[in-house]
Amino acid sequence: MKRLASVPPLLDIIHSATEPIITIDEQQLIVMFNPAAERVFLYRADQAIGSRLEILIPARFRAIHAQHVDRFAHTGLSDRKMGLGAPLWGLRANGEEFPMEASISQTRTDAGVFLSIFLRDITERQRIDQALRASRDELTRLSNALLHVREQEKKHIARELHDDLGQSLTALTMELSQLESGLPPDNAPLRERVDDMRRLIKITFASLRRIASDLRPVMLDDLGLAAAIEWLVSNFVSRYGIDTDARIDIGPAEPSKQVATTLFRVVQEALTNIAKHAQATEVRIELSCTATHCSLTVQDNGVGDAPASLARKLPLSLGLQGIRERVRLLNGDVNITTRKKEGFRLEVSLPAQPALPLWEAP
Ligand SMILES: Nc1ncnc2c1ncn2[C@@H]1O[C@H](COP(=O)(O)OP(=O)(O)OP(=O)(O)O)[C@@H](O)[C@H]1O
Ligand SMILES: [Mg+2]
Repeated sequence: MKRLASVPPLLDIIHSATEPIITIDEQQLIVMFNPAAERVFLYRADQAIGSRLEILIPARFRAIHAQHVDRFAHTGLSDRKMGLGAPLWGLRANGEEFPMEASISQTRTDAGVFLSIFLRDITERQRIDQALRASRDELTRLSNALLHVREQEKKHIARELHDDLGQSLTALTMELSQLESGLPPDNAPLRERVDDMRRLIKITFASLRRIASDLRPVMLDDLGLAAAIEWLVSNFVSRYGIDTDARIDIGPAEPSKQVATTLFRVVQEALTNIAKHAQATEVRIELSCTATHCSLTVQDNGVGDAPASLARKLPLSLGLQGIRERVRLLNGDVNITTRKKEGFRLEVSLPAQPALPLWEAP
């Protein structure tokens, strides 16, 4: 090994290391135990030196560990991670166990073969990992609950609109007919006003039905995903006059209710976005489901968006983020491909029957 004359002696470096370093001989007796090892294992060096390495290992791992070290001593390899990815366990003098990572290296001298073990106490890292996992799970549960509440609320509003306002409008039409029958036959101006009112009620009825269907299309529940998407598409075409080619192949098995609602909401948001942002003249929708998998693409030939500008907008908008969130909850993926003046392509792929907590009442 090359080194400059001004480098400090190696033992000083080992002494001041912040991670435990332990050297053992061929009999697995500890011959060197640095201060960091004293702090982690709670043994003084003079207690540890001369003892077997196994005092630092929980009893249940001792046999396998001894074999492991022994095998290593005979392989001649100079550096090797121990534990094969899974954390190893250390044992402090007070009986406490802790997770650690270790690597091991071998030195052959005239006095024999020595193994040095470089350790890292990963208790804190594992604690943080667990806390992170727990808070991610918590967030997923929260999103689930939110989606559930939103869908329920939409269903509720749709029903209220239909049942409550719908009833009132029907009653109003009947009242109007009665009023009309009591009108003198020769009063044309009054009859015309009644006709106007009837037309207005009809228009209000149509808007009400449209709003209720947008909130929660009954056909999604009654006729299934393909019919519901065809309905969305024909509404889109008649509202905005944009040429739309929809290829829908659901196959024999209807995807699960959450998947169907999610795909429906994705198409709904994608079409709304096209109407709002794209200035497109052509839209192509492809949806295909097998028994296990659904994939959906909505592509337009509109103005598109620069990826950097889209990345800036996404955290502030609800539409595409909402899609991402819904699809992620069902273990699916969302892919957006767009460039300025090159259209917008939204791809969603997800399992057809994900085994997940229900966020929508069956
Ligand atoms: N088809 C599209 N063509 C061009 N730009 C699009 C298209 N779809 C989305 N965008 C861009 O992506 C941005 C984010 O879309 P997103 O649906 O998340 O939000 P939004 O439509 O602006 O608001 P909302 O929260 O009401 O949906 C849009 O503001 C728009 O700039
Ligand atoms: Mg949007």
